[in-house]
Amino acid sequence: MFSAEVYHDRRRRLMNQIGSGLILLPGHLDAPMNYLDNPYPFRQDSSFLYFVGLDQPGLAAVLDIDSGVEMVFGSDPTEDSIVWTGPLPLLHQQVEQVGISRTQPIEQLPDCLRQARQQGRAIHYLPPCRPETTIQLHRWLNIPIDEIQSQCSHPLIRAVVEQRSIKSADEIRQIESAIEITHSMVRAAARVARPGVREYQVVAAVDHACRWRGGMPGFISIVTTHGEVLHNRVCNETLKAGDLLVCDIGGESAEHYTGDITRTFPVGGRFDSRQKDIYTIVYNAQRTAMATMRPGVEFREIHRLACVELARGLIAIGLMKGDPNQAVAAGAHTLFFPCGLGHMLGLDVHDMEGLGEDFVGYTGTIRRNPAFGFKSLRLAKPLEPGFVVTVEPGIYLIPDQIDRWQARQQCGDFIDFEALQKWRDFGGIRVEDVTLVKERGCKILGSEFASTADQLEELIQSEQAGTNCPF
Ligand code: GLY
Ligand code: MN
Ligand code: MN
Repeated sequence: MFSAEVYHDRRRRLMNQIGSGLILLPGHLDAPMNYLDNPYPFRQDSSFLYFVGLDQPGLAAVLDIDSGVEMVFGSDPTEDSIVWTGPLPLLHQQVEQVGISRTQPIEQLPDCLRQARQQGRAIHYLPPCRPETTIQLHRWLNIPIDEIQSQCSHPLIRAVVEQRSIKSADEIRQIESAIEITHSMVRAAARVARPGVREYQVVAAVDHACRWRGGMPGFISIVTTHGEVLHNRVCNETLKAGDLLVCDIGGESAEHYTGDITRTFPVGGRFDSRQKDIYTIVYNAQRTAMATMRPGVEFREIHRLACVELARGLIAIGLMKGDPNQAVAAGAHTLFFPCGLGHMLGLDVHDMEGLGEDFVGYTGTIRRNPAFGFKSLRLAKPLEPGFVVTVEPGIYLIPDQIDRWQARQQCGDFIDFEALQKWRDFGGIRVEDVTLVKERGCKILGSEFASTADQLEELIQSEQAGTNCPF
């Protein structure tokens, strides 16, 4: 937990910006896996965590902007409940730690909100991502359940996004700690990824490294020999020498900031020449993007420059043809790179995406391009100092897409479909790091970590040296 002043200042800023009325911030409930007493590991709502800091289920905060009163609604442990949980601090003791002095039983929240509604006061709330929260809001606010999303407060979303987008020094330290945990997870993958091992065994080693350091994965680890499937979560394949293994991994820090790093390893320890060529193209695209990132530059332009670099490399090895800038203008590169270059990162791996991607990554004048290959660009607007953004180019050979494009001769001026046939089963390669936008450029967060093809081969060699045992 940060200091009470940090949470106090965040709430003050938020209230000043909204101006009047009430701000309602529901925390998460436990989410049942198959019945209520068998829940998924608890993960607090990220905006609740950001403004209220308390990391347990069943709480809600009300910030009364007009009176300045801040109140947390919840429950104290009971004689019965502590039989199951052991002794826990009382609610008023907990809220003191985050600079709040008033508490009330959660059962009184509907009355408090009813009174405010009867007085005609505005109640601002964020769009909920969980069904349980949607139902709570419906009951508390007497809003039809299918209008909960549409009646959420856009001024509140904008104010929250504005604050959460600029990371403080405390937050950067948390993200760096998450990245160190993530590095250990990637190293664990390098250690165990050998011929004969199953993908899920690599996942086990990766998740073990995270939990061993007190973290939890910030998202389901993506560990796959089918790297062309962007977020493949099926991991039953047995690794073979010559396979490429995409590992897209993130562990959470103590305060629930996450890492998000991808490395693609050659199973058996050595990239072959085609794999090294593609790896180097992807790596160059990442470094070209990072070299151009600085405040004021639109991230959609950074995305475009990375795409041009990918196209340049693919032209050099004969899979594309023509001029790289023209090829990108025609969208030809999207056959190989059908997604966005990166996204904000923080308490969420796609930070604040639950509040609406367009609020986070776009503006009134910078609108989402709905075309294939551009529509999943999550961040397009100009960068600002303090933004934390992933940079994650890739090249993906997706047989289904290749067949469809070839049948239509789509972008035939820029793609050599005949040459491409020999690459159908290549798979995919992605490299991803987390950057901080600084006054004059950007820097990769976390300590130095293997990222060129040669460094990855060295990493595998050093991690696997002298041991047959993955652990
Ligand atoms: N790990 C998911 C992503 O990179 O967006
Ligand atoms: Mn990412
Ligand atoms: Mn990732």
